[in-house]
Amino acid sequence: MTKAKVSDLDFNNLGFGYHDLPYRYKAEYHDGQWQPGELTTDSTIHLSESAVALHYGQEVFEGLKAYRRKDGGVNIFRPDRNAHRMHNSAERLLMAPYPEDKFVEAVKEVVKANQDFIPPYESGGSLYLRPLLISTSPEIGVHPGHDFLFTIFAMPVGAYYPGGLAPTAFVTSEFDRAAHGGTGQAKVGGNYAASMLPGDNAHKAGYSDVVYLDPREHEYIEELGSANFFGITKDGQFKTPKSPSILPSVTKYSLLALAEEMGMNPVEEAISIHDLDQFAEAGAMGTAAVISPVGSIAHEGKKHVFFSETEVGPKTQALYDRLIGIQYGDQEGPEGWVQDVPLV
Ligand SMILES: Cc1ncc(COP(=O)(O)O)c(C=O)c1O
Repeated sequence: MTKAKVSDLDFNNLGFGYHDLPYRYKAEYHDGQWQPGELTTDSTIHLSESAVALHYGQEVFEGLKAYRRKDGGVNIFRPDRNAHRMHNSAERLLMAPYPEDKFVEAVKEVVKANQDFIPPYESGGSLYLRPLLISTSPEIGVHPGHDFLFTIFAMPVGAYYPGGLAPTAFVTSEFDRAAHGGTGQAKVGGNYAASMLPGDNAHKAGYSDVVYLDPREHEYIEELGSANFFGITKDGQFKTPKSPSILPSVTKYSLLALAEEMGMNPVEEAISIHDLDQFAEAGAMGTAAVISPVGSIAHEGKKHVFFSETEVGPKTQALYDRLIGIQYGDQEGPEGWVQDVPLV
C-alpha cells in the first residue's frame, strides 16, 4: 500500500475509504501494564498466526471525527465518550482497557501529526479516526489474551451527503445483529461480521440498509444498519429505542440533549415496528452521516413512508444543522462537547 499524498487527494470527492496516512499511534500491553505509546509511520501490524483477535474475535474498536473549523483550527467531538465506550467494550471482552485520558491525548496527537490531511471546512469533509484494540497473545484454546495492541489511525473522509440530506429506504431483516445478553452494547468486530449477510441482502434488494428488530420478539426496532434509530412523532416528540442490545451511540446521546434544548421532549422507549404511524419523520444516527433521514421502512412486504421518500423533514434538518454547527465550531454547544486540537 502506498502512502497517501495530500497532492493526490481531491477533498471534495473523498467518499469513505482507507488512506495510508503518514502517522498512527501505537501502544502495547505486556506484563500486566500499558507500555508508553508513540506515533509511528508503520501502518502494518505483525501478528502471531494464533493471535486471539484473529480466531476468537477478541477485538474492539471506535470511530470519531476531527473537523476543520472556518478559522482553520480543528475540533474533535466528544472524544471522552468514545474513550469511555471503548473502555466498556474492552471490559465486556475481558481486555485491558486503554486509559481514557491517554486515549483522548493520543487522538489529538494523531490529528496533529496528520493535520495536512484534514479536509478544509468548505468541503464538508472531516478526518475520521479509528481507534482499535486487539488481543495479540498466541492462544489456540478459547482463553482471553494477556497481551494487547492499541492503535489509532486516521483517514480523510468526504461529506456524507454532498448535495444535502437525502432520505433512503430501509427494510427489516429476519436476522439478528446481537442478543440481549450478548455484545450489542459493545463495539466489537463480531457484531459487524454478523451484519454483513443481512446488509448484503438488503443492498441487493435495493435498500440502503437493514432495520434490526429485537432478538426476542422481532417486534421492536433495535438499530438501522450501523446507526441508532429515531422518530419524531406527529406532535413533535423525539423518540429513540431503548434496548440492552443496541450500541450506545454518541450521536444519539448528543441529539437527545439537543432535542431537549429544542423543546422536543425526548424519550428513550421501546418502538414497535407496528407503530410507525405515530411518526411524522424518522432518521438514523451515527458518526458517519450524523443523521440519515429514513424515507421508508419495508416490513413483511408493506412499505411505510415517513415524511417523504425524496425530501428531508424540517425537524430532522434542524437537528442535523444544530449538531453539525457545533461540530464544525459555527455554533456554541453544551460545555465540553468540542475540544480544540492544538496544531503546533
Ligand atoms: C451498530 C452501531 N450503532 C450505532 C452507531 C452510532 O454510534 P456513534 O454515534 O457513536 O457513531 C454505530 C457507529 O459507531 C454503530 O456501529
